[in-house]
Amino acid sequence: MPRAIISPSVLASDFGNLTAECKRMIKGGAEWLHMDVMDGHFVPNITMGAPILSCVSKGVPGIFMDCHMMVAEPEKWVDDIADAGGALYCFHIEATNDPVPLIKKIHKRNMKAGVAISPDTPSTAITDEIAEAADMLLINVYFSLETYTGRGGQKFLDRCVPKVAELRARFPEKDIEVDGGVGPKTISVCAEAGSNVIVAGTAIFNAEDPEAVIATLKSTVDA
Ligand code: DX5
Ligand code: ZN
Repeated sequence: MPRAIISPSVLASDFGNLTAECKRMIKGGAEWLHMDVMDGHFVPNITMGAPILSCVSKGVPGIFMDCHMMVAEPEKWVDDIADAGGALYCFHIEATNDPVPLIKKIHKRNMKAGVAISPDTPSTAITDEIAEAADMLLINVYFSLETYTGRGGQKFLDRCVPKVAELRARFPEKDIEVDGGVGPKTISVCAEAGSNVIVAGTAIFNAEDPEAVIATLKSTVDA
């Protein structure tokens, strides 16, 4: 299995001090920062887009922005996110009919390509062809009463964990990311199922000692 990468979700940060918040996470041992881009269509919430990501990449040189594109038309934002300094562009399989050409478009702009599935989407929606073209697979593992996607701090959804294991069995070397409700209490099942890229928002940003939480998540995956 690939090594652990911790990607704190800035959705749980103080947006008024975004660059300082990102630096705080990097200092605490995070390698990636998870940027939730939401458009109010694919999900009801609106968060941030390319202009904000552009400020972050200028303010935090060398930052690896893991962009989770919770948007209805993922084809539309590839150039903007690349120009803003995005390092990984992860789109939802539910939002496109042409995932492989989209992955090629993302690669052309020198970003890594990720493919995400929402809680009700089966792992088989990620075909071998799609997974082989992509660099990372993302499984949303959380539940919100209002909506499945679009907010931080939601409950971890155990029933999504088998999808992680299914994908790990099919793709032993691929980066597999879990996102939603992940923290010290839920990391063991995620790690056992085979995820190695760990998104955690509230569990890290709201912690008294974020560095210790990042270290725990990392050591559990790498154990
Ligand atoms: C939710 C986002 C997640 C979220 C995770 O729609 O995709 O990245 O910010 O936050 P926590 O870890 O607090 O559930
Ligand atoms: Zn996310």
